[in-house]
Amino acid sequence: MKRLHKWNIPAIGAGVIVLTLAGTGMRSEAAERIVRIGHNQSTDHPTNIALTAFKEYIEEKLGDKYEVQVYPSEFLGSQTDMVQLTQTGAIDFCVASNAILETFSEDYTLFNLPYLFSSGEAYHASMDDPEITGPIFESTQKAGFKAVTWIDAGTRNFYTVDKPIESPADLKGMKIRVQQSPTNVTMMKLLGGSATPMGFGEVYTALQSKIIDGAENNEVALTANGHGDVCKYYSYDMHQMIPDILIGNCKFLDQLPEEDWAVYQEGIKIMNQVQRTEWVKAVEAAKEKAAKEMGVKFNYPDTAPFQKICAPMHQALISQHPELAPIYDKIQVHNMENVASESSKSKGGKAQ
Ligand code: GCU
Repeated sequence: MKRLHKWNIPAIGAGVIVLTLAGTGMRSEAAERIVRIGHNQSTDHPTNIALTAFKEYIEEKLGDKYEVQVYPSEFLGSQTDMVQLTQTGAIDFCVASNAILETFSEDYTLFNLPYLFSSGEAYHASMDDPEITGPIFESTQKAGFKAVTWIDAGTRNFYTVDKPIESPADLKGMKIRVQQSPTNVTMMKLLGGSATPMGFGEVYTALQSKIIDGAENNEVALTANGHGDVCKYYSYDMHQMIPDILIGNCKFLDQLPEEDWAVYQEGIKIMNQVQRTEWVKAVEAAKEKAAKEMGVKFNYPDTAPFQKICAPMHQALISQHPELAPIYDKIQVHNMENVASESSKSKGGKAQ
């Protein structure tokens, strides 16, 4: 198969990339449609490994029609840039944190609520339930994109440069990076810290130059993104399980012949299977590397005081968006059926 120069993307702004990509979606000299997928993780991250499995499957089954190109590491810009590229069809898919999607459709706010899920199992059961995700995944159709699946991104916890977070009081006066989402800013304010929203790619430098005192994320950010080089305290307060979402351009998805869509769906299933296996391995490996090689200390504060402070956010969202109430209630059913065991709590929630 004839290839485009896959990694030959100069380090220039996303705007220039849009122009370059927009004209080349369908190449006249070959039959294959180039399908572009952007994400912000490194090449050895579970997301990239899983998307590579997707690429291989699609090309094995439909290689005469499609060439799938996966662009990692913010090559195509920040997540917000990539969502915009997907909206316009300059690229076909991207992985965006659910937190970012809140600014495109308020329905996504639901999955950003702190302490929404009672355990990792409840999180999986809820996100695997089409009655829960369906209406939300379709809510951005008018904006030109829709979600095709969710991707596990673990549990988000606070990590800081020079003192552990044992209780919400420890956050007072601390500048903590949060994702660019109104929910995360509200959460941080309630917990007493100073919310500093910024893109993922800027966090390492901000930590290093002491613009911020800490951040919050899953364990893999300590190693894959090097945040553990600077932050030596990781506290399992378990405030959010925010999924990543694979979104696709509506025009591209809608014009796929039915038989091709069936192959794409199978490819997405394979991608999910690979991601889930790789994710469990990646979290374990990150904890080990962070503790042994980077000198990060893991601590397990009582999560109840954090949860109590954030609790009013649930009612506030439902009052503002009563249409989300039936979905919220369905999540509560999964929560009751999947209460966290004490042993999983002591392992940091074991959200996998
Ligand atoms: C996780 C998540 C990313 C997100 C990042 C962030 O790594 O998987 O999608 O961009 O957190 O904190 O911005």
